[in-house]
Amino acid sequence: MSKLVSFIVLCTALNSVTAKDSYCYGNITFGNIPFTIQELIADVLLKSIPATFFTDCSNVNIPIANDSIKFYFFNSTSSYVRIDSDNPPQLDPSKRLIILAHGWLCSMNDSYFPDLRQAYFKRYGDCNIIGVDWSDLSVNVWSIAYCSVPIVGAKLGDLLCKIASTSGIPVESMHMVGHSMGGQMAGFTGQRVQTQCGSKIGNITALDPGGISYQVQLDESKRLDKGDGIAVQVIHTNAGILGYEGNCGTTDFYPNCGTIQPGCLDVIQALKNAALLWPNNPQAILNNSLVNLPLTEVLCDHFRSIVYFIESVNSKQFKAIDCKKCTSTILDSLCLLAQALNLADYTIMGEDCPPVNEEDAYFLTTNSKSPFAKGDAGA
Ligand SMILES: *[C@@H]1O[C@H](CO)[C@@H](O)[C@H](O)[C@H]1NC(C)=O
Ligand SMILES: *[C@@H]1O[C@H](CO)[C@@H](O)[C@H](O)[C@H]1NC(C)=O
Ligand SMILES: *[C@@H]1O[C@H](CO)[C@@H](O)[C@H](O)[C@H]1NC(C)=O
Ligand SMILES: *[C@@H]1O[C@H](CO)[C@@H](O)[C@H](O)[C@H]1NC(C)=O
Ligand SMILES: *[C@@H]1O[C@H](CO)[C@@H](O)[C@H](O)[C@H]1NC(C)=O
Ligand SMILES: *[C@@H]1O[C@H](CO)[C@@H](O)[C@H](O)[C@H]1NC(C)=O
Repeated sequence: MSKLVSFIVLCTALNSVTAKDSYCYGNITFGNIPFTIQELIADVLLKSIPATFFTDCSNVNIPIANDSIKFYFFNSTSSYVRIDSDNPPQLDPSKRLIILAHGWLCSMNDSYFPDLRQAYFKRYGDCNIIGVDWSDLSVNVWSIAYCSVPIVGAKLGDLLCKIASTSGIPVESMHMVGHSMGGQMAGFTGQRVQTQCGSKIGNITALDPGGISYQVQLDESKRLDKGDGIAVQVIHTNAGILGYEGNCGTTDFYPNCGTIQPGCLDVIQALKNAALLWPNNPQAILNNSLVNLPLTEVLCDHFRSIVYFIESVNSKQFKAIDCKKCTSTILDSLCLLAQALNLADYTIMGEDCPPVNEEDAYFLTTNSKSPFAKGDAGA
């Protein structure tokens, strides 16, 4: 099918949302977001990605203002306490520090981040959470968000080094969790922390880290890789579509083989069906397929990585095996034989993913609805 964006679109969207509101709230439908963004998403789903996604950023004008990057502090009793990055507050070093970063088109207030914070408070009673809200930059066309990520990531790295010295919290004990472009951001933050304070962030968890332009990025300093933290856990749920395809951590997980998740709507088929009925009419294609769904449902496979991770914070049931059950290569058959003989390697996906002994990729299946973890039956 031809690119949706190859048409000159004169219609402006029926959007009731202003430019800088996040599009990831459950109460905002696909039809509410600007048509240009709808088209970009549909193009990504149909793998007909516009050239503007691939940029070295030299010609991209990033609309950055003093206040575009905001850091917030959360604990079990306070939320949305703005952090002055030049003068961060004293944090209790006896409590865990977790850093959260959202992705493209989203904010700290949606795309499951409030649920993730609550899961952490339930698990640990209290902990220090820092949320980076870069929605002023992320709620934009892909190229602007993409080119902002290194800037936001570096600023966050500087903040973490400052907190390490003022609060006496070693960066090796910090855990950064990022979704989508926020997962890629963890790579930039990890690199900055290494150059600024000489040690690595302890744990990075990248939830379906962004693919597309990161996919073609051969320079590892411009994307997440296994060297960016001591342990870099990656949970792939939409690999090769919105998410990065291929191992990029010290432990890479592929729930349900990593691309399509059970219980998610097949939006690609819905788009293709609509395209057959309304050829050459992008607005009609979108109107008749995705328009009434929230973005978290349109990109359900991509967001599932966060949903699984949230469940994992209070469950150790995401057991995974190093056999690639998705294919039937000889190596995998040998691995399955090893499994039968009790010799295979297992681990746990999510918050309790153990420290790395050996870099490896792991596979598991999940249920199609909550609770998603299947325990022994998933591995
Ligand atoms: C959606 O919900 C958010 C948070 O509850 C609220 O701030 C926003 O105004 C709502 N948007 C619409 C379009 O209803
Ligand atoms: C941005 O910050 C700089 C340095 O703190 C300040 O000089 C400048 O006036 C600020 N600009 C705006 C628009 O607030
Ligand atoms: C949460 O942080 C606030 C400061 O913003 C602090 O006053 C409060 O004691 C903290 N809560 C806990 C449970 O430590
Ligand atoms: C998120 O919620 C906080 C607190 O309600 C608010 O101050 C902030 O503006 C919101 N951010 C976005 C991007 O909606
Ligand atoms: C990373 O998290 C795991 C699980 O909580 C923990 O066992 C491990 O010590 C952490 N690694 C580092 C380097 O902090
Ligand atoms: C798409 O839907 C909107 C509102 O639901 C309507 O105004 C518009 O005419 C539709 N466009 C097409 C091409 O179907």
